[in-house]
Amino acid sequence: MADQLKGRTIFITGSGGVLGSTYVRRMLEQGARVVASDLPGHRAEALKERHAGNPDFRFYDLDVGVEEQVVEIFQRILKDGWEPNVVLNNAAITGEMLMGAGKPFPDFADTTVADFERTLRTNLTGAFMIARQMDRDIVGKWPATLVNVASMYALNGAHHPIYEGMPFKNFSAYGVTKAGIHGLTVWLAGYWAPRKATVNTIAPGAVFNGHSEEFQRRVSELIMAGRMAQPDEIADAMLFLCSAQAGYMTGQLVNVDGGFSAW
Ligand SMILES: NC(=O)c1ccc[n+]([C@@H]2O[C@H](COP(=O)([O-])OP(=O)(O)OC[C@H]3O[C@@H](n4cnc5c(N)ncnc54)[C@H](O)[C@@H]3O)[C@@H](O)[C@H]2O)c1
Repeated sequence: MADQLKGRTIFITGSGGVLGSTYVRRMLEQGARVVASDLPGHRAEALKERHAGNPDFRFYDLDVGVEEQVVEIFQRILKDGWEPNVVLNNAAITGEMLMGAGKPFPDFADTTVADFERTLRTNLTGAFMIARQMDRDIVGKWPATLVNVASMYALNGAHHPIYEGMPFKNFSAYGVTKAGIHGLTVWLAGYWAPRKATVNTIAPGAVFNGHSEEFQRRVSELIMAGRMAQPDEIADAMLFLCSAQAGYMTGQLVNVDGGFSAW
């Protein structure tokens, strides 16, 4: 479908990552205006370079864990002349990001409160602050929608044996935040309904990003489709949730996981 997102101005956090950058590309192809944001760094630079000169693309530096930055973000965008009607809470610390150079991935017993709380701050408090700012600056002014990003490991436990011998493991705080974010979705759905704003959660499955053959084999055995997802397959569902066609959906959790959660 061409122009699926015409008339949508989409604000997205963590947009330089594997999925975020795919969403940005696909949204622009479908006629949206995209307000991308991320931490400053190489991901942000690559994204800006890729879409430089596209009049439907703008980029703002944003750390979703820093309240002063979140409080200002929509006012900055509005002052620059665009009115976001779709917001994506996509930024997250995944377990991999907690591994320092040469530092092994911590076992549960060695997980520090600092690493746990840092993950909560970005994945959950950050998402709350974005939603709260959306409430203050957008909700009720024009019809709007929020998409929160969870994971196949939100409401299902991780299969710890598949991580044995891998350089990364499944991190406890990650699943905690991804379960929590759907709590935010269902809470807000009823709260915002009178002001014509909807909110849903997408729960992506395991997305291929250069994983080893052995890891692909292990995880694929848990997935009905028998393989990991391509980023564009998650984007297909994300674009629908951002579109006018999803207007009658609110408070829902949409699994895009090749059947992982149905077994
Ligand atoms: N890739 C997967 O297999 C998968 C599966 C399920 C869910 N998800 C979820 O999808 C979303 C995108 O994942 P991805 O695979 O693209 O991950 P990624 O690590 O490639 O991208 C995450 C992005 O978030 C940004 N980020 C981290 N901390 C931030 C902060 N404090 N403020 C702003 N931005 C910050 C990073 O800079 C990065 O660009 C995440 O919410 C993730 O949990 C991914």
